[in-house]
Amino acid sequence: MSARPRDPMLPRSYRIESVESELPGGEVFSWTLRPRGGELEVGQPGQFNMLYQLGIGEVPISISALGEDGTLIHTIRDVGGVTRNMAALSAGEEIGVRGPFGTAWPVAAAEGHDVLLVAGGIGLAPLRPVIHHVLANRERYRRIFLLYGTRQPADILFRKELERWRGRFDIDVAVTVDRADASWRGDVGVVTRLIERGGFDPRNSIAMVCGPEVMMRFAVMSLERRGVPARQIYLSMERNMQCAVGYCGHCQYGGHFICKDGPVFPYDRLEPLFDVREL
Ligand SMILES: Cc1cc2nc3c(=O)[nH]c(=O)nc-3n(C[C@H](O)[C@H](O)[C@H](O)COP(=O)(O)OP(=O)(O)OC[C@H]3O[C@@H](n4cnc5c(N)ncnc54)[C@H](O)[C@@H]3O)c2cc1C
Ligand code: FES
Repeated sequence: MSARPRDPMLPRSYRIESVESELPGGEVFSWTLRPRGGELEVGQPGQFNMLYQLGIGEVPISISALGEDGTLIHTIRDVGGVTRNMAALSAGEEIGVRGPFGTAWPVAAAEGHDVLLVAGGIGLAPLRPVIHHVLANRERYRRIFLLYGTRQPADILFRKELERWRGRFDIDVAVTVDRADASWRGDVGVVTRLIERGGFDPRNSIAMVCGPEVMMRFAVMSLERRGVPARQIYLSMERNMQCAVGYCGHCQYGGHFICKDGPVFPYDRLEPLFDVREL
């Protein structure tokens, strides 16, 4: 007898194994989660889970990493009603998880190409599993570029990992900040400036872009100016979500539901919608 498919609307119980503050003050934190019974539902880079705090609410959060010991890592920014309550939870507490949902970054299609990862702010979290994947399978890819921009040096995420990536010879890492402080010795300016001078081969690159929508808009313009075809640029879109499985319509974006047709889209599918204000 075949097993009954899991109901995608029913959260499974996970335990918060540990909480790591990613920025001073804990505005961004990472949870390491382990299923309480049963196997971890392993998602692909780019997919998201609906995280449910009992009695508070549910939010879509991208997979930020897969732990080696059957754990799942999510990185969350405290911005409002639900995430603020989540920021107060500690290791040992319980959380509901539905998912993984949505489309993934094109890590297979990118094999044999230059890989260009462009992240703004917390947009580095959904791209982090791609970095883990391409570095673990380094021989399958040509050059790899990570271009990362934040508002200020204090907002840089995953600092230790960034340093490790910088220390390798097989990935080019460039970090820029909008506003420098006295400690900053690196680039200043928006992330698009890094695209303009990046040493990638535009026709033979797959670009994956994640960050605030305005940043993605300018990133796409820079990539196209450099000659990267629209079908080789992928974006991860965000909208308010409720069901995450294409029933409720909350995440509608033109003719697409971001929860099931996205969140990762090739730009040539979004192009007609991207310039429509407040869509
Ligand atoms: C597919 C997908 C993946 C996502 N992945 C992540 C992730 O990995 N990590 C993460 O931290 N967030 C992620 N988000 C965003 C996250 O879901 C929202 O920040 C969260 O739902 C906000 O819920 P809230 O109840 O805490 O805030 P609300 O009470 O809903 O919002 C409070 C205020 O914050 C503003 N706000 C809401 N969302 C955002 C946002 N994304 N950025 C800036 N301001 C916002 C609202 O406009 C409002 O003013 C993702 C969203 C989607 C759709
Ligand atoms: S969240 Fe319900 S249709 Fe996408």
